[in-house]
Amino acid sequence: MSVKAGSGKFNVGVVGASGMVGGELLGLLESRRFPVGELFPFNSGRRAASVRFRGRRLACSAPSFDALKKADIVFFVSNEEVSEKFAPRLAEAGVWCIDDSSRFRLSPGVPLVIPEVNGGELKPSKRLIAGPNCTLTGAAVALAGVHRRYGISELRMATYQAVSGAGKAAMTELEEELRGYLRKGAVPRLKGKGFPRPIAFNLFPQVGGFDAEGNTGEENKVEAELKKILAAPRLRISVTSVRVPVLRGHSLALWFTTSKPCGLAEIKKEFGRTPGLKFFSRPEDYPTPLENGHRTDIVYAGRLRRSKTSAREFQLWVVSDNLYKGAALNSVQIAERIVRI
Ligand SMILES: NC(=O)c1ccc[n+]([C@@H]2O[C@H](COP(=O)([O-])OP(=O)(O)OC[C@H]3O[C@@H](n4cnc5c(N)ncnc54)[C@H](OP(=O)(O)O)[C@@H]3O)[C@@H](O)[C@H]2O)c1
Repeated sequence: MSVKAGSGKFNVGVVGASGMVGGELLGLLESRRFPVGELFPFNSGRRAASVRFRGRRLACSAPSFDALKKADIVFFVSNEEVSEKFAPRLAEAGVWCIDDSSRFRLSPGVPLVIPEVNGGELKPSKRLIAGPNCTLTGAAVALAGVHRRYGISELRMATYQAVSGAGKAAMTELEEELRGYLRKGAVPRLKGKGFPRPIAFNLFPQVGGFDAEGNTGEENKVEAELKKILAAPRLRISVTSVRVPVLRGHSLALWFTTSKPCGLAEIKKEFGRTPGLKFFSRPEDYPTPLENGHRTDIVYAGRLRRSKTSAREFQLWVVSDNLYKGAALNSVQIAERIVRI
């Protein structure tokens, strides 16, 4: 046991405790009975906030290095700047840092981990650990087994991303647009909003800013992070990311090509033994974000079929909870593993 608290309990810091992922994370630490000694919740300090944990209300405060150093494990669920400011120095000082921001995901030497897929990368010497972007988690979990056995050489993906993937303010934006529509019969133009277009009764193919080639930040993240997690630098990936007016649960349409020949039966068999995946064999049993993307621990897949455009290509539909497996749950599962290292 390399975590420092002696009693089998661990002091835990949550930076971003008042946010969407932070709230889910606190609930999961409680419901999964993670052995928390003391809990230290942090927010920006720009507004008063408190959180409820094990029946007690705890005030959030702005993080400082000294305050964070009292923890054995710190979850970073705020933003890249905050992770950058504290996580490397804390990890250096021996505190486990589990970072949900994108700041260190592609840094060499920082494990980017989904425990079911590459949990073996967790080591006592690597105290700073990144969790991946919520969009690719479903694809990584669903395809890990097939990739290991048959090699995936090409992956195309269209994403249907819930607004909660963009944080609490984005959920409020959708709700306010819907309320405005119900009151006045038209989607209102809100001031100071985060999304580039109205989201109520709409969707748009833009998640993040555009690069010189016309790809979005999200599309590039999905590509680079998937290659790292699957240890497949030569995998060819193209992605179109779409924001949809769903509150919670990301959906993916995937087209994947295997290097070694295999049939539908072999892929179904692989899905049957892939950790963290529930595969629906009957086409009509496909998962949806409303039914399978709310506080669900696993990734759901269905509608497997051969593609009509290429002999080795298959199509799959995947749904996962962006706030659980895509963020908070994945981080807690990482913590559950590191306390056993
Ligand atoms: N939403 C998802 O599906 C998802 C999935 C994967 C990863 N992530 C990552 O998880 C992180 C949090 O996302 P979210 O969706 O929970 O965002 P959110 O709802 O906007 O919450 C952000 C949290 O960060 C806190 N914060 C902001 N600035 C801070 C500062 N300077 N110091 C300390 N805390 C600060 C906020 O505190 P205040 O309340 O004081 O502003 C709030 O608690 C992000 O890095 C995001 O990329 C999110």
